[in-house]
Amino acid sequence: MPEFIDLLLVGAGQIVTCSGFGDGPWRGGGLSEPGVIRGGSIAVTEGRIFAIGTDADVKKKIGGARVLKTIEVDGRVMMPGWVDPHTHAVFAGYRADEYEARIRGDSYLDIEKMGGGIKRSVKGVREMDEERLFELARRRLGRMLDQGVTTLEIKSGYGLDIENEIKQLRVIERLGKETDLDVVATFMGAHQVPPEYSDPDCYVDFIIKEMIPAVAETGLAKYIDVFCEKGVFDVGQTRRVLEAGKEYGFGLKVHSDEIYALGGTELAVEMGAVSVEHLTRITPSGIKSLAGSDTIGVLLPGTSFGLASNDFAPARDLIEAGAAIALSTDFNPGSAPSSSMPLSVSIACSQMGLVPGEAIVAATRNAAFAIGMGSEVGSLEVGKKADIVIYDIEDYREIPSRAGLNHAVVVVKEGNVASEVHDFRARSEVGL
Ligand code: NIG
Ligand code: FE
Repeated sequence: MPEFIDLLLVGAGQIVTCSGFGDGPWRGGGLSEPGVIRGGSIAVTEGRIFAIGTDADVKKKIGGARVLKTIEVDGRVMMPGWVDPHTHAVFAGYRADEYEARIRGDSYLDIEKMGGGIKRSVKGVREMDEERLFELARRRLGRMLDQGVTTLEIKSGYGLDIENEIKQLRVIERLGKETDLDVVATFMGAHQVPPEYSDPDCYVDFIIKEMIPAVAETGLAKYIDVFCEKGVFDVGQTRRVLEAGKEYGFGLKVHSDEIYALGGTELAVEMGAVSVEHLTRITPSGIKSLAGSDTIGVLLPGTSFGLASNDFAPARDLIEAGAAIALSTDFNPGSAPSSSMPLSVSIACSQMGLVPGEAIVAATRNAAFAIGMGSEVGSLEVGKKADIVIYDIEDYREIPSRAGLNHAVVVVKEGNVASEVHDFRARSEVGL
């Protein structure tokens, strides 16, 4: 029994725990049951969950311990903080003109050929100093936190040379240290072929011989990722980069089957990748190999939305085949410029056919496993980090159904209030 309870959250109408159905990422039918406690409390000590359950259970568990701070949840909903497992949040500026161009009929790859797309963001990052890049990204993460994101992954990949990739990775490291969020870094030198290389194979050689050893030496990245796509890196080149990355101890991730299905998913599964991401065009063979593996399929509904496209990853087929899926924003300046996890959850429900419980588990618990954080965050259970969000709603299904609003009123990260809507207690009625 602890002497002190640092924080007691009491009187929730619903706590969506995302726990109670097995230890790892959830698959199949289990995904739709998000483990709801009605009328519940959470007690926190030293940044971790000490007790969770009905108000009466938690009261009993904390016994005579002194409670240092209490928040009355007043019938609202508590959920784990969102885990966003795929972002490109360190960039110089947005490319909103490309959004209009796509609506007018240009494709993502057409825009890339005309000097837009990733290459344009590479120019921006190369020209911007590190301090400014950090400051912009710090503010973006602040807005994500306000919407309930408490952990995210960020990829490099707008530097595409040693100096600028490491510059981005240093910014990502600082974001982890100087914001309230947990940040996981991925090295993505294989995001695009930079303008100074006319032969992609020569750039792949450079990645393997020079960049991977240099990045590994800094210790700044946990994962390596490759954009396996027509006109970017083919399956053979992707394999070479992943093999070199694996040798240097990086975990593996692959952007695969976004626009064309080249076989990147099958390759990633064969190589034991932690995740494959996008999957809009995944084939039946890709679904089969993913379903028979521990690799997690990270689906990015906000990208289809940002590309003004009606093509979404076949989430239902993936779930029915038994694959573990996660949701992410893909937050980046071009194809997916919204950093809103609730919006991604909402699009996943209305456009991919996920039920709200499935989408929420995919955006918390399973997302945490997609970045190797599943034992620490992504669900509300005893011993895990106290990353808890209070939403001003009565039923968790209002998150996707009442889209376009930020319902988060208190965001707790490791037991501390990291973001709070100033007057939320004054609103005595929920359901406004
Ligand atoms: O995940 N697909 C490749 N990379 C990003 C796009 C980044 C950009 O357009 O700047 C993505 O969608
Ligand atoms: Fe991406």
